[in-house]
Amino acid sequence: EMSPEERDFQAKIDAETKIEPKNWMPEGYRKTLIRQISQHAHSEIVGMLPEGNWVTRAPTLKRKLQLMAKIQDEAGHGLYLYSAMETLGADRDEEIQKLHDGKAKYSSIFNYPTLNWADMGAVGWLVDGAAIVNQVVLQRTSYGPYSRAMVRICKEESFHQRQGYQILLDMMREGTQEQKDMVQDAINRLWWPALMMFGPHDDDSPNSQQSMAWKIKRKSNDELRQMFIDQTIPQLEYLGCTVPDPDLKWNEERGHYDFGEINWKEFYDVLKGDGPCNRERIATRRKAIEEGAWVREAAVAYAAKQKQRAAA
Ligand code: ACO
Repeated sequence: EMSPEERDFQAKIDAETKIEPKNWMPEGYRKTLIRQISQHAHSEIVGMLPEGNWVTRAPTLKRKLQLMAKIQDEAGHGLYLYSAMETLGADRDEEIQKLHDGKAKYSSIFNYPTLNWADMGAVGWLVDGAAIVNQVVLQRTSYGPYSRAMVRICKEESFHQRQGYQILLDMMREGTQEQKDMVQDAINRLWWPALMMFGPHDDDSPNSQQSMAWKIKRKSNDELRQMFIDQTIPQLEYLGCTVPDPDLKWNEERGHYDFGEINWKEFYDVLKGDGPCNRERIATRRKAIEEGAWVREAAVAYAAKQKQRAAA
């Protein structure tokens, strides 16, 4: 037996009407959204770190400005997403504390190091490219504030993806042999981790079924991974590079690329906190919060003083 609230909620889901913050929603729906949106927000913020590593070493002033602008966009994405999460009643400080205690998840991809300048191209092209495939679909997610945040984020991510691809294209077209080798090396290291961004196989994804029923997720992990591969391989060929997968092959009958099996042990190790950079990433975030404490305290003291003056 459905209660009138449940019936109204289900009718909205069925009719593709967005659920808004003040509407009734099942507790599980609220919890699932807080989980996914907080993880998504943390990913944007932690995702600034691998690229931050190259700000001081960008090859030209122009490249440095582009990289800084892109990293600032990621900070903005994190802030929209934390705000969307707050509309569900979650507390921003508490969720960020969980990240710093190593209890919250964020995208596995950001636990890999960025070792050469071509990584800045490959991160933009592959990592932001994978993020877009996932996020374009999330524009149609059933929760209004999340859906609207995705619209703006996708516009910016598309630009990031293009600027990343352009870095690689320039290196492949005009670069020395050493620079071309750097591009291939970056792709070799980031290809499999980029495919892992879409999460476990549908059969091993505990949250998928319910999230699809609630239309929080609109396409499954495996569907999105396949879409990403199908759209990325022609771009890879245009670059003149390869991916480290001997099983990658166009399948005429399916109309899709076949590809090899992901190393799931590596994926779950990274999720458990045992990836190449997990500890370093969390330590960097903690340090940033600690070192910024005086700014937050000063802002609060200043606001209190202004209020006192206004009252006097
Ligand atoms: N990295 C870290 N954790 C992951 C990853 C990954 N690549 N893939 C899945 N997981 C986690 C899930 O969060 C879930 O954890 P939890 O149940 O403890 O919360 C668990 O593994 C099982 O996976 P699923 O049941 O498939 O989880 P879910 O239905 O949430 O699907 C997905 C995972 C596809 C990542 C979904 O949460 C999503 O679309 N999130 C929004 C997009 C996003 O977060 N992008 C971040 C990277 S892009 C960027 O920031 C630039």
